[in-house]
Amino acid sequence: MKANGGRLTREQARELLLKMDSSLGGSRGRASREAMAKFLNANVPTYSWVGIYTVDGKDLVLDAWSGPAATEHVRIPIGKGVCGFAAKAGRTEIVSDVSKDPRYLQCFLSTKSEIVVPISSQGSVVGEIDIDGDQLDAFSSLDREFLEAVARKAANLWS
Ligand code: SME
Repeated sequence: MKANGGRLTREQARELLLKMDSSLGGSRGRASREAMAKFLNANVPTYSWVGIYTVDGKDLVLDAWSGPAATEHVRIPIGKGVCGFAAKAGRTEIVSDVSKDPRYLQCFLSTKSEIVVPISSQGSVVGEIDIDGDQLDAFSSLDREFLEAVARKAANLWS
């Protein structure tokens, strides 16, 4: 692992955004979300588990994921957990230490930090990207910027 714990750099973020388009191979809808989750998990060492949820009425439903294990949180009411909070507020949430955030719903014992980025289309939240990190403080404003750009790609390929 590098000196910064494998955290994303600006240079990598730029390259990954370009590389992601070819890795999606022209897919759309759920297939594009599967490919995005896999791509993010495989290419950024700090992205230990990557999930993409979609909004289904008053809930978030897990649509695609990539990581070492499945989560039991396949349906989360909007408003609950860090995921539900971000969906309700319509803005990115970064939790640098999950043990200190009362909203946090635990999935994996190894998780130390989390970022949740809403995916919006025509002014409403249609889904979100949820990433768990095995290091404390794994996510910075650079991850936010990068993942908000990824979320815009996801919105463009939504259905
Ligand atoms: N930790 C999330 C729940 C989803 S799992 O991380 C996959 C939350 O607090 O909403």
